Amino acid sequence: AKPKVWVSRPLFPDVLARLSEHFDVEAEAVEHRHTPDELKRKLAGVDAAVVGLADRVDAAVLEGNHRLKVVANLGVGFNNLDVDALTRAGILASNTPEVLTESVADFAWALMLAAGRRVNAAERWLRAGHWPGSHMRFDDWLGGDIHGRTLGILGMGRIGQGIARRAFGFDMRVLYHNRSRLPETVERECHATLVSKDELLRQADFLVLVLPFTPENRHVIGAPELARMKRSAVLVNVARGGIVDDAALAVALREGHLAAAGLDVFEGEPSVHPDLMSLENVVLSPHIASASEETRRAMADLAIDNVIAAMGFGESAGKPPTPLNPAVMNRWAASKA
Ligand code: GLV
Ligand code: GLV
Repeated sequence: AKPKVWVSRPLFPDVLARLSEHFDVEAEAVEHRHTPDELKRKLAGVDAAVVGLADRVDAAVLEGNHRLKVVANLGVGFNNLDVDALTRAGILASNTPEVLTESVADFAWALMLAAGRRVNAAERWLRAGHWPGSHMRFDDWLGGDIHGRTLGILGMGRIGQGIARRAFGFDMRVLYHNRSRLPETVERECHATLVSKDELLRQADFLVLVLPFTPENRHVIGAPELARMKRSAVLVNVARGGIVDDAALAVALREGHLAAAGLDVFEGEPSVHPDLMSLENVVLSPHIASASEETRRAMADLAIDNVIAAMGFGESAGKPPTPLNPAVMNRWAASKA
């Protein structure tokens, strides 16, 4: 019998067909938020799983599971996985880095431009039928310029670098803050200068967050940080909910301590803080920064490539492309020998 794979979300049929060449595939046909109990039961009956960011795979969910070998995450961020618990259980975990870098960078710019120039609020006004008969003023709907301003990037991984490279065409000055300094060649390529976090907050006209979510990064942007930013500044979050204190952000936006925000991720999503929902100067999107046709396909392909290779099939058998805890595979080899 073929080994069994569970796919927790509907995926592209041709991608699933590729998986079926090697596996007995059980794929969810509709989107569904699995409770920890459901997840535990699903994972208990399979050799490998492809999971989404809403599936929390932790020690409790893995308890008593002696069958599961591989968990492939559909996303670059993997704060939904307890990688230590997976490693202890001898389960290989993987994510989808690199393939989504440029699409997420594109989307960060979509939010910067839309929030800076009030695209969504203006569209709501137009669609509501206000334009005819409104005597729209010459100084209505004024946003702030994007070109020539200072772009600040907090978290300068591959996505941050992609955002920075795009700023060249907008003639922006680019500042960044990161745990470690980028190699000089990369800094030059991105036209980016390392500054302290405080300097970044004070100088950025557009501050874009591209940090991974870790307990230390919770509320990296809260009331004290927002207070240090320019009143004309625009905040963009394409990283993870919880990096920003959404309640504090809503207060800052309402009271004019910040001009606008563009948010793709939220604390407690899919719920969005009601104060953010009611503000005009914030552009909201439902965690879709990687959702281009090409990139979502590439992510699905990469996730199943990890499953296929880790389970010993295909051309790259034994060499999954993007493992998070590759040492687990040495233990498999040792226990077989
Ligand atoms: C999306 O949020 C991802 O981590 O890929
Ligand atoms: C994601 O891959 C990043 O490095 O920012």
